Amino acid sequence: MKLRYDFNNMMVEHIDKNGQNSRFRNQVGAISKGDIEELMPMIERARKSLSSKWGDPSKMLAWTELPNNQKDIVEDILATSKRVRKSFDNFVVLGIGGSALGPIAVHQAIRHLHYNDLPAGERGGPRLFIEDNVDPERMAALFDIIDVAKTCFNVITKSGSTSETMSQLLIVFDKLKKELGEKLVSSNLIATTDSSKGNLIKIARQYQLKTFIIPDGVGGRFSELCPVGLLPAAICGIDIEQMLAGAAYMEELCRVGDVWKNPGWMSGILSYISMTSKGKNIHVVMPYADSLRYMADWFAQLWGESLGKKHNIHGEVVHVGQTPVKALGVTDQHSQVQLYTEGPFDKVLTFLGVDRYRNNYPIPHGFEDIPEVGFLGGHTLNELIQSERIATEYAFTKSGKLNQTIILPEVNEFTIGELIYFFEVQTAVCGELLGIDAYNQPGVEEGKNAAYALLGRQGFEAKRAEIDARPHKNDIFIL
Ligand code: PA5
Repeated sequence: MKLRYDFNNMMVEHIDKNGQNSRFRNQVGAISKGDIEELMPMIERARKSLSSKWGDPSKMLAWTELPNNQKDIVEDILATSKRVRKSFDNFVVLGIGGSALGPIAVHQAIRHLHYNDLPAGERGGPRLFIEDNVDPERMAALFDIIDVAKTCFNVITKSGSTSETMSQLLIVFDKLKKELGEKLVSSNLIATTDSSKGNLIKIARQYQLKTFIIPDGVGGRFSELCPVGLLPAAICGIDIEQMLAGAAYMEELCRVGDVWKNPGWMSGILSYISMTSKGKNIHVVMPYADSLRYMADWFAQLWGESLGKKHNIHGEVVHVGQTPVKALGVTDQHSQVQLYTEGPFDKVLTFLGVDRYRNNYPIPHGFEDIPEVGFLGGHTLNELIQSERIATEYAFTKSGKLNQTIILPEVNEFTIGELIYFFEVQTAVCGELLGIDAYNQPGVEEGKNAAYALLGRQGFEAKRAEIDARPHKNDIFIL
């Protein structure tokens, strides 16, 4: 069940062969073996630097240990999920960013694409809702379709203080209190948070909530393989042990010293080269499977928040990063592919392909008097989607657009575990080569603090004054 990372079309041997003889040829930016060899001293330094940080939670590399150190927690998660699956009709995650995108992606990948609409017997567990926004209409809509007494809520926040998640908690807590009485709130509420930091752990202790701990040194967007992702997955009937086994297998592959045999490191290195010396500012992830569409969303946060940085670790202003873009094959062939094929040479495309889809769907014969339609009969949707992926890859390559493909033999728990860990290593390696801190997000703070100030949070009076003093908008620019 080994995932395959095919980077042929990133390399000069392949992409330049395809007729880029125009004056734009030098913009293709294909990578040579020499580009990689030249980087070897830097790669060695990055490797040493990363291994010197292992075991120190403040360096935020504890995600590397998750595939192999969650065994005790898994038992607790499985026991809890058994109870929740038996007792509740709905399971609602309250969380945002790294506390939501992984659970969404894994659920979509593994379970039925219309999971919530299946009859309860076929589903075998509660319906799942992941509330990662504070849109009042969405919140109201949720309560229109769930019975809170029959719903288990899992509030997930590493910091224990994210306003969006805490607002949702206040709403849910109030509803549960009214419905069940304060003493029984704990039967419908599970907390996933840091062991000591933030406010959620205080609330969890006060109300004796069932609590899962996000290990020290694991940041939000690297937390899918700890209780953040494992609990919602297990509750929906996903085999979390297989997911961890897949991640552990990839972890082993990514420990290999020779980067030419190490998929995670090679993808991180190629990304680094593409964004620094080849002018690729955009990274499109295009799964050819609906089941993988939210893996692209999860990747977008991982890539964007980890690598988009103003300062390097020495405090110098660098403004680095590569904008992640989500696309879906074949859907976006009829939306974005025109741009990717013929537009600027500013992006790398990563296809996610699947060897064996979990269904085989034949296309019946018919309309044989119309050859342009009739030729489709006798094929399968499987053949169609595969051919379209290969055809799009061919078109990108022919037009000189760097692209690479990750193939999952099949979408299952093991290969999803592999894919998650692969992307995490790719991100970490690229961050290390860029010389930035891939684990913080200072750029998010300004907006967060401004929102606190606008809502009148104590301690943010000066920020409020600063906002009130901002230049007023000019009416002539508002139509
Ligand atoms: O990756 C991160 O650290 C962030 O994107 C967080 O996941 C996000 O801000 C939510 O934070 P928290 O889990 O603390 O509520």
